[in-house]
Amino acid sequence: MSSTEGGNPAYTARPADAAQAADQTSSETLSTLQDPPVEQPLAPDTGVFDEQTVARARQIITRYPESRSALLPMLHLLQSVQGHISQEGIAFCAQELALSTAEVSSVTSFYSMYKRKPCGEHLVSVCTNTLCAALGGDEIYARLGQRLGSAGRPLHHEETAGEPGTPGSVTLEHAECLAACDLAPVLQVNYEYFDNQTVESAIEVVDGLRRGERPAPTRGAPLTSWRDVELQIAGFFGEPEALRAAVDAPSASEETLVGARLAELRGWQAPPMPDEGPLPPVPEKK
Ligand code: FES
Repeated sequence: MSSTEGGNPAYTARPADAAQAADQTSSETLSTLQDPPVEQPLAPDTGVFDEQTVARARQIITRYPESRSALLPMLHLLQSVQGHISQEGIAFCAQELALSTAEVSSVTSFYSMYKRKPCGEHLVSVCTNTLCAALGGDEIYARLGQRLGSAGRPLHHEETAGEPGTPGSVTLEHAECLAACDLAPVLQVNYEYFDNQTVESAIEVVDGLRRGERPAPTRGAPLTSWRDVELQIAGFFGEPEALRAAVDAPSASEETLVGARLAELRGWQAPPMPDEGPLPPVPEKK
Protein backbone atom coordinates (compact mmCIF):
# COMPACT_ATOMS: atom_id res chain seq x y z
CA MET A 1 0.00 0.00 0.00
CA SER A 2 1.42 3.39 -1.00
CA SER A 3 1.67 6.23 1.47
CA THR A 4 -1.21 8.10 -0.23
CA GLU A 5 -3.59 5.20 -0.71
CA GLY A 6 -6.80 5.67 1.23
CA GLY A 7 -5.83 9.25 2.07
CA ASN A 8 -6.84 12.58 0.57
CA PRO A 9 -5.74 12.43 -3.09
CA ALA A 10 -5.23 16.18 -3.16
CA TYR A 11 -2.13 15.78 -0.99
CA THR A 12 1.02 14.04 -2.04
CA ALA A 13 3.36 12.47 0.45
CA ARG A 14 6.89 13.84 0.51
CA PRO A 15 9.50 11.40 -0.74
CA ALA A 16 11.02 9.47 2.16
CA ASP A 17 14.50 10.97 1.72
CA ALA A 18 13.12 14.52 1.67
CA ALA A 19 11.13 13.83 4.83
CA GLN A 20 14.22 12.47 6.49
CA ALA A 21 16.29 15.46 5.42
CA ALA A 22 13.68 17.83 6.82
CA ASP A 23 13.58 15.94 10.09
CA GLN A 24 17.32 16.41 10.41
CA THR A 25 17.15 20.16 9.73
CA SER A 26 18.06 22.38 12.65
CA SER A 27 15.30 24.37 14.34
CA GLU A 28 16.96 27.55 13.08
CA THR A 29 16.51 26.49 9.46
CA LEU A 30 13.02 25.18 10.15
CA SER A 31 11.83 28.68 10.91
CA THR A 32 12.23 29.52 7.23
CA LEU A 33 9.94 26.64 6.29
CA GLN A 34 6.98 27.88 8.26
CA ASP A 35 3.96 29.43 6.58
CA PRO A 36 4.31 33.16 5.87
CA PRO A 37 2.52 35.33 8.41
CA VAL A 38 -1.16 35.85 7.74
CA GLU A 39 -1.85 39.35 6.48
CA GLN A 40 -3.14 41.50 9.29
CA PRO A 41 -6.12 43.72 8.48
CA LEU A 42 -5.00 47.28 7.87
CA ALA A 43 -6.62 50.05 9.79
CA PRO A 44 -8.62 51.82 7.09
CA ASP A 45 -7.61 55.44 6.75
CA THR A 46 -10.49 56.83 4.77
CA GLY A 47 -9.23 60.33 5.55
CA VAL A 48 -6.83 59.87 2.63
CA PHE A 49 -9.75 60.30 0.24
CA ASP A 50 -11.77 63.47 0.04
CA GLU A 51 -15.54 63.67 0.29
CA GLN A 52 -16.04 63.64 -3.47
CA THR A 53 -14.04 60.43 -3.86
CA VAL A 54 -15.91 58.72 -1.04
CA ALA A 55 -19.23 59.84 -2.56
CA ARG A 56 -18.17 58.59 -6.00
CA ALA A 57 -17.09 55.23 -4.54
CA ARG A 58 -20.48 54.82 -2.87
CA GLN A 59 -22.19 55.82 -6.11
CA ILE A 60 -20.29 53.04 -7.91
CA ILE A 61 -21.45 50.54 -5.28
CA THR A 62 -25.10 51.41 -5.96
CA ARG A 63 -24.67 50.29 -9.59
CA TYR A 64 -24.39 46.64 -8.64
CA PRO A 65 -26.71 44.16 -6.94
CA GLU A 66 -23.68 42.68 -5.11
CA SER A 67 -21.43 45.33 -3.60
CA ARG A 68 -18.25 43.33 -4.24
CA SER A 69 -18.87 43.72 -8.00
CA ALA A 70 -17.96 47.40 -7.55
CA LEU A 71 -14.35 46.56 -6.75
CA LEU A 72 -12.85 46.94 -10.24
CA PRO A 73 -14.29 50.41 -11.04
CA MET A 74 -13.57 51.54 -7.47
CA LEU A 75 -9.91 50.68 -7.95
CA HIS A 76 -9.85 52.75 -11.14
CA LEU A 77 -11.44 55.61 -9.21
CA LEU A 78 -8.71 55.43 -6.56
CA GLN A 79 -6.02 55.36 -9.25
CA SER A 80 -7.51 58.58 -10.66
CA VAL A 81 -6.92 60.16 -7.24
CA GLN A 82 -3.60 58.70 -6.12
CA GLY A 83 -2.02 57.55 -9.36
CA HIS A 84 -1.70 53.99 -8.07
CA ILE A 85 -3.29 51.55 -5.63
CA SER A 86 -1.93 52.33 -2.19
CA GLN A 87 -2.28 50.37 1.03
CA GLU A 88 -4.82 52.98 2.13
CA GLY A 89 -6.75 52.37 -1.09
CA ILE A 90 -6.79 48.64 -0.48
CA ALA A 91 -8.03 49.18 3.09
CA PHE A 92 -10.66 51.65 1.87
CA CYS A 93 -12.07 49.21 -0.70
CA ALA A 94 -12.05 46.38 1.85
CA GLN A 95 -13.96 48.48 4.34
CA GLU A 96 -16.54 49.78 1.84
CA LEU A 97 -17.15 46.38 0.24
CA ALA A 98 -16.92 44.15 3.32
CA LEU A 99 -13.97 42.27 1.84
CA SER A 100 -10.67 41.34 3.42
CA THR A 101 -7.60 43.35 2.49
CA ALA A 102 -6.11 40.10 1.16
CA GLU A 103 -9.04 39.73 -1.27
CA VAL A 104 -8.64 43.29 -2.55
CA SER A 105 -4.89 42.95 -2.74
CA SER A 106 -5.13 39.73 -4.76
CA VAL A 107 -7.27 41.52 -7.37
CA THR A 108 -4.86 44.44 -7.65
CA SER A 109 -1.91 42.13 -8.15
CA PHE A 110 -3.75 39.96 -10.71
CA TYR A 111 -4.72 42.67 -13.20
CA SER A 112 -1.95 44.63 -14.88
CA MET A 113 -4.13 47.75 -15.18
CA TYR A 114 -3.77 48.29 -11.45
CA LYS A 115 -0.45 49.93 -10.64
CA ARG A 116 1.32 49.27 -7.36
CA LYS A 117 3.73 52.14 -7.91
CA PRO A 118 2.78 55.75 -8.74
CA CYS A 119 2.24 56.20 -12.46
CA GLY A 120 3.38 59.06 -14.67
CA GLU A 121 1.13 61.69 -16.21
CA HIS A 122 1.05 59.36 -19.17
CA LEU A 123 1.24 55.58 -19.47
CA VAL A 124 2.89 54.31 -22.65
CA SER A 125 2.06 50.67 -23.35
CA VAL A 126 4.06 49.01 -26.12
CA CYS A 127 2.65 45.77 -27.49
CA THR A 128 5.36 43.12 -27.45
CA ASN A 129 3.11 40.19 -28.22
CA THR A 130 3.92 37.91 -31.15
CA LEU A 131 2.75 39.85 -34.19
CA CYS A 132 3.79 43.30 -32.98
CA ALA A 133 7.10 41.92 -31.71
CA ALA A 134 7.89 40.34 -35.07
CA LEU A 135 7.04 43.57 -36.89
CA GLY A 136 9.16 45.80 -34.68
CA GLY A 137 7.41 46.03 -31.28
CA ASP A 138 10.38 44.58 -29.40
CA GLU A 139 12.69 47.10 -31.03
CA ILE A 140 10.29 49.95 -30.28
CA TYR A 141 10.07 48.93 -26.61
CA ALA A 142 13.84 48.67 -26.29
CA ARG A 143 14.46 52.03 -27.98
CA LEU A 144 11.81 53.82 -25.93
CA GLY A 145 13.42 52.39 -22.79
CA GLN A 146 16.75 53.87 -23.87
CA ARG A 147 15.16 57.17 -24.82
CA LEU A 148 13.35 57.54 -21.50
CA GLY A 149 16.20 56.24 -19.33
CA SER A 150 18.95 58.31 -17.81
CA ALA A 151 22.67 58.04 -17.07
CA GLY A 152 23.02 55.18 -19.54
CA ARG A 153 20.39 53.06 -17.79
CA PRO A 154 17.28 52.29 -19.85
CA LEU A 155 13.83 52.58 -18.35
CA HIS A 156 12.35 49.19 -17.52
CA HIS A 157 8.81 47.82 -17.28
CA GLU A 158 6.53 50.06 -15.16
CA GLU A 159 9.27 52.56 -14.44
CA THR A 160 8.71 56.28 -14.86
CA ALA A 161 10.73 59.02 -16.50
CA GLY A 162 10.28 62.18 -14.46
CA GLU A 163 8.53 62.54 -11.12
CA PRO A 164 5.40 60.35 -11.24
CA GLY A 165 2.26 62.43 -11.66
CA THR A 166 4.03 65.65 -12.63
CA PRO A 167 3.54 67.15 -16.11
CA GLY A 168 5.57 65.36 -18.75
CA SER A 169 6.25 62.26 -16.63
CA VAL A 170 5.96 59.03 -18.61
CA THR A 171 5.60 55.46 -17.35
CA LEU A 172 6.67 52.78 -19.81
CA GLU A 173 5.29 49.25 -19.87
CA HIS A 174 5.28 46.36 -22.26
CA ALA A 175 1.83 44.98 -22.94
CA GLU A 176 0.28 41.78 -24.17
CA CYS A 177 -1.80 41.82 -27.38
CA LEU A 178 -3.68 45.14 -27.58
CA ALA A 179 -6.26 43.73 -30.02
CA ALA A 180 -4.98 45.72 -32.99
CA CYS A 181 -2.84 43.09 -34.68
CA ASP A 182 -3.97 44.25 -38.15
CA LEU A 183 -2.27 47.57 -37.38
CA ALA A 184 0.91 46.18 -35.85
CA PRO A 185 3.14 47.31 -34.37
CA VAL A 186 1.00 49.40 -32.04
CA LEU A 187 1.40 51.27 -28.80
CA GLN A 188 -1.08 53.01 -26.58
CA VAL A 189 -0.83 56.21 -24.57
CA ASN A 190 -3.34 56.17 -21.73
CA TYR A 191 -5.08 53.33 -23.66
CA GLU A 192 -5.52 55.39 -26.87
CA TYR A 193 -4.06 53.83 -30.00
CA PHE A 194 -1.04 54.82 -32.03
CA ASP A 195 -1.13 52.38 -34.95
CA ASN A 196 1.48 51.24 -37.48
CA GLN A 197 4.38 52.54 -35.44
CA THR A 198 8.06 52.72 -36.26
CA VAL A 199 10.92 53.36 -33.86
CA GLU A 200 11.05 56.94 -35.13
CA SER A 201 7.32 57.65 -34.81
CA ALA A 202 7.22 56.10 -31.33
CA ILE A 203 10.16 58.24 -30.17
CA GLU A 204 8.39 61.29 -31.59
CA VAL A 205 5.32 60.43 -29.49
CA VAL A 206 7.21 60.05 -26.19
CA ASP A 207 9.38 63.11 -26.86
CA GLY A 208 6.18 65.11 -27.31
CA LEU A 209 4.75 63.73 -24.07
CA ARG A 210 7.95 64.63 -22.19
CA ARG A 211 7.70 68.20 -23.53
CA GLY A 212 4.16 68.43 -22.15
CA GLU A 213 2.44 68.00 -25.51
CA ARG A 214 -0.45 65.68 -26.24
CA PRO A 215 0.09 64.11 -29.67
CA ALA A 216 -3.06 63.03 -31.50
CA PRO A 217 -3.77 59.29 -31.39
CA THR A 218 -4.36 57.52 -34.70
CA ARG A 219 -8.02 57.03 -33.74
CA GLY A 220 -10.28 57.33 -30.73
CA ALA A 221 -10.50 60.17 -28.24
CA PRO A 222 -7.90 62.94 -27.89
CA LEU A 223 -5.27 62.45 -25.21
CA THR A 224 -5.85 63.56 -21.65
CA SER A 225 -3.82 62.29 -18.70
CA TRP A 226 -3.74 58.73 -17.39
CA ARG A 227 -5.53 59.80 -14.22
CA ASP A 228 -8.31 61.45 -16.26
CA VAL A 229 -8.75 58.23 -18.18
CA GLU A 230 -8.88 56.23 -14.95
CA LEU A 231 -11.76 58.45 -13.84
CA GLN A 232 -13.53 57.80 -17.15
CA ILE A 233 -13.04 54.05 -16.75
CA ALA A 234 -14.64 54.36 -13.31
CA GLY A 235 -17.63 55.91 -15.11
CA PHE A 236 -17.27 59.60 -14.36
CA PHE A 237 -17.15 62.17 -17.13
CA GLY A 238 -16.63 65.63 -15.77
CA GLU A 239 -14.98 66.70 -19.00
CA PRO A 240 -16.41 68.77 -21.83
CA GLU A 241 -19.20 67.14 -23.80
CA ALA A 242 -16.96 67.03 -26.88
CA LEU A 243 -14.57 64.67 -25.11
CA ARG A 244 -17.41 62.47 -23.91
CA ALA A 245 -18.65 62.27 -27.51
CA ALA A 246 -15.15 61.37 -28.73
CA VAL A 247 -14.84 58.62 -26.12
CA ASP A 248 -18.20 57.18 -27.13
CA ALA A 249 -17.60 57.50 -30.88
CA PRO A 250 -16.75 54.41 -32.99
CA SER A 251 -12.99 54.02 -33.19
CA ALA A 252 -12.50 50.91 -35.31
CA SER A 253 -9.94 51.40 -38.07
CA GLU A 254 -10.69 50.94 -41.76
CA GLU A 255 -8.33 47.95 -41.89
CA THR A 256 -10.27 46.21 -39.14
CA LEU A 257 -13.60 46.74 -40.89
CA VAL A 258 -12.55 45.48 -44.34
CA GLY A 259 -13.53 41.88 -43.58
CA ALA A 260 -16.95 42.83 -42.24
CA ARG A 261 -17.62 45.08 -45.27
CA LEU A 262 -16.60 42.35 -47.70
CA ALA A 263 -18.85 39.84 -45.95
CA GLU A 264 -21.77 42.28 -46.13
CA LEU A 265 -21.18 42.91 -49.81
CA ARG A 266 -21.12 39.20 -50.61
CA GLY A 267 -23.89 38.18 -48.26
CA TRP A 268 -21.67 36.01 -46.10
CA GLN A 269 -22.97 35.12 -42.68
CA ALA A 270 -21.75 32.98 -39.83
CA PRO A 271 -23.85 29.83 -39.41
CA PRO A 272 -26.58 30.26 -36.81
CA MET A 273 -25.66 29.20 -33.31
CA PRO A 274 -28.62 27.50 -31.61
CA ASP A 275 -29.24 28.54 -28.01
CA GLU A 276 -29.73 24.92 -27.08
CA GLY A 277 -28.15 22.20 -29.12
CA PRO A 278 -26.81 18.72 -28.62
CA LEU A 279 -23.50 18.60 -26.82
CA PRO A 280 -20.72 16.71 -28.57
CA PRO A 281 -20.03 13.29 -27.10
CA VAL A 282 -17.45 13.25 -24.31
CA PRO A 283 -15.12 10.24 -24.20
CA GLU A 284 -15.62 8.11 -21.14
CA LYS A 285 -12.95 8.58 -18.47
CA LYS A 286 -11.06 5.45 -17.52
S1 FES B 1 0.07 41.38 -31.20
FE1 FES B 1 0.13 43.54 -30.89
S2 FES B 1 -1.94 44.11 -31.06
FE2 FES B 1 -2.02 41.96 -31.25
